[in-house]
Amino acid sequence: MIISIVSGKGGAGKTTTAANLGVALQKLGKKVCVVDANITTSNLGLHLGLVHYPVTLHEVLKNRFPVLDSLYIHESGMRVLPGSLSLEVSKNIRLDSIRRNLEILGRKFDYVIIDSAPGIEKEAMTAIEVAEEILVVTNPELPAITDAIKIIELAKKERKTIKGIVLNKVFDRRFEPLTEEIESVTNVPVIAEIPFDMNVLESIADKSPVVSGRRNSPAAKAFFRLSERITGDYEEAAAPDIFSGIGSLIFSQLRKISDYLSAKSARSAVVSKEPEEKTKGKTPSRFREEKGGFSDFESELKKQILKKLRERESAE
Ligand SMILES: Nc1ncnc2c1ncn2[C@@H]1O[C@H](COP(=O)(O)OP(=O)(O)O)[C@@H](O)[C@H]1O
Ligand SMILES: [Mg+2]
Repeated sequence: MIISIVSGKGGAGKTTTAANLGVALQKLGKKVCVVDANITTSNLGLHLGLVHYPVTLHEVLKNRFPVLDSLYIHESGMRVLPGSLSLEVSKNIRLDSIRRNLEILGRKFDYVIIDSAPGIEKEAMTAIEVAEEILVVTNPELPAITDAIKIIELAKKERKTIKGIVLNKVFDRRFEPLTEEIESVTNVPVIAEIPFDMNVLESIADKSPVVSGRRNSPAAKAFFRLSERITGDYEEAAAPDIFSGIGSLIFSQLRKISDYLSAKSARSAVVSKEPEEKTKGKTPSRFREEKGGFSDFESELKKQILKKLRERESAE
């Protein structure tokens, strides 16, 4: 299974997710290879403690080394194909040969996890084109979500299966959009919520993913749950009752947005009609009393994004 990790926006947490999901899957007994397909700004190797790596994806793509002879072994047993840190070698890379080499890896490993470039240009699109499934990493803030919408629309155009959204750097504050809102506006389920966690910053400094060195940290636990979602060993528990009252509140706000969407997200369609009183005195996560739901502004934004993507399409 070839899974590409994309986001549109840089800094959302693609590389962190690729490194942690890869190691977590390996720890579940799967054969995993992570590939840094972020050609121009590669840094997956740094997350995994690779310090000296003369052979990279770049050499493979230039046919200097066979792909299966170019893999490094992480202490977890996971295989790594890093990208080059050098600016020079990233020129003149033949993106089309990525597909052939990844197919070779796809036959050898249970999971090939591809870390991709930010943006929606050729480099990022290549990661989408070669993927069997897509994981979209985003953050609970509008700029990240609008970029996620763009990349999701492009992936859908390529008829790719979008496995879900990994919502990273969650602070659980009132100003953050609710998970249901993000699902409704993107039409993609949120399959993991990774908290903003200082352990992630420490682990990057240590060059060892949280699931390796900080197994009990909140972020590591969330990445382990994500890996179980990917293998199918974990099913999301039903939402506790306390959320159902909020559901109807959000639903009324979301109905406007859903007109823009071709298909309703499963979760927003099944929210119950519990009275709002039930939520009084309780403070469930990211419940905002002042306003639930995306505003007309955000809906309009999504319309604009879709228009721009259509223009881009007709210009090509
Ligand atoms: N869950 C998290 N908690 C705290 N900081 C995070 C988390 N995920 C990512 N970061 C921070 O964000 C930075 C960017 O993450 P990275 O995975 O490199 O993003 P991308 O690959 O999408 O550009 C990391 O270097 C780290 O400092
Ligand atoms: Mg990255």
